Amino acid sequence: MHYRIALLPGDGIGLEVVKAGMQVLQMVATMGDFTLSFTEFPYSCTYYLEHGVMMPEDGFEMLRQYDAILLGAVGDPRIVPDHISLRGLLVPLRQRFDLYVNYRPARLIPGLPTPLKGDPPFDLVTIRENSEGEYAGTGGRVHIGTPDEVALQTTVFTRKGVERIVRYAFELASKRKHKLASVTKSNAMQYAFVLWDEVVNQVACEYPEVKVQHYHADALLAMLVRDPLRFDVIVASNLFGDMITDLTGALQGSLGLPASANLNPERNAPSLFEPVHGSAPDIAGKGIANPMATFWAVSLLLEFLGQQMAARLLMHAVEQVIGEGKVLTPDLGGVATTGAVTEAVIQALMQGHA
Ligand code: NAI
Ligand code: MG
Repeated sequence: MHYRIALLPGDGIGLEVVKAGMQVLQMVATMGDFTLSFTEFPYSCTYYLEHGVMMPEDGFEMLRQYDAILLGAVGDPRIVPDHISLRGLLVPLRQRFDLYVNYRPARLIPGLPTPLKGDPPFDLVTIRENSEGEYAGTGGRVHIGTPDEVALQTTVFTRKGVERIVRYAFELASKRKHKLASVTKSNAMQYAFVLWDEVVNQVACEYPEVKVQHYHADALLAMLVRDPLRFDVIVASNLFGDMITDLTGALQGSLGLPASANLNPERNAPSLFEPVHGSAPDIAGKGIANPMATFWAVSLLLEFLGQQMAARLLMHAVEQVIGEGKVLTPDLGGVATTGAVTEAVIQALMQGHA
């Protein structure tokens, strides 16, 4: 098998972690019966300054030719406002490639300093709706800059959009612990989230073995901190899923760990894999970005391409390096560089394979 991977390093530490991710991918490929080739695309805030767009219109068609995309992070608020960078690249990719499933696992890897008392060994997956909802991008501003200014940002929920994400979550729950938490604010938002609840209850009839619990988003966030072991699969809208996964990421010990898979389950466009974190301008260029989230994303990429064995080997190596606790970046209390952590994971991979 040969896979063509598009690399979108983006901005800030995105450049550093994607380089590390590619090195690890190259090493894993020598252990499996597949080969990889990489093409790097420069779309970023720097590109925007030169070209006036985050990516050219034919960028979508070029990226479409690849088997998967590995993205670092996009955003440099010092030179381009965040809503322009995010809505100029990542959000359109999610929408144009119909990457409607955002799969975000979170679990406590032994050896990590979770802020939670007693180190509860949580292991959960958030399925975030990734194509519509609060991030649909519908709205506008009028009378800009005047006292009569109005801004509208409309949440868009379609029955089709809700049903396909909810079904994906039920399928996953039926393969895991048969538990699904559905997240809304249907008490305060009586149209969109009441539709969501109705669709969940309808799809639930097809999965009698899955126990569904409905949560309001605020209560769920509190419960995640108090009792994360209660959860297994969580399904949420675009905005709520975004927030929940920064929290579950922080519960793992650092934003340098959680990974995100933007999936097109029908496979009629390439899926996109990335760390949950952003471009971290505060540490960019210092060589201390934690590459673990990107390695985890690379493992999800391999899994989606059907290379389960390689995906497991890589996660094993990541867990081994974390468990030993010797080569960690500063966000995890260590003093190691991105390069040193990458080297340690590559060494662990080679030992695990021997
Ligand atoms: P951020 O995730 O970049 O940083 C938050 C904090 O976590 C910072 O203190 C940072 O140093 C730390 N951190 C993040 N990743 C780390 C890593 N791998 N290793 C060690 N420490 C790490 O979020 P922030 O500061 O809100 O956003 C910065 C820029 O990134 C903005 O332009 C934002 O729009 C963009 N962003 C892009 C995303 C994407 O491309 N998917 C996601 C989130 C933010
Ligand atoms: Mg986020």
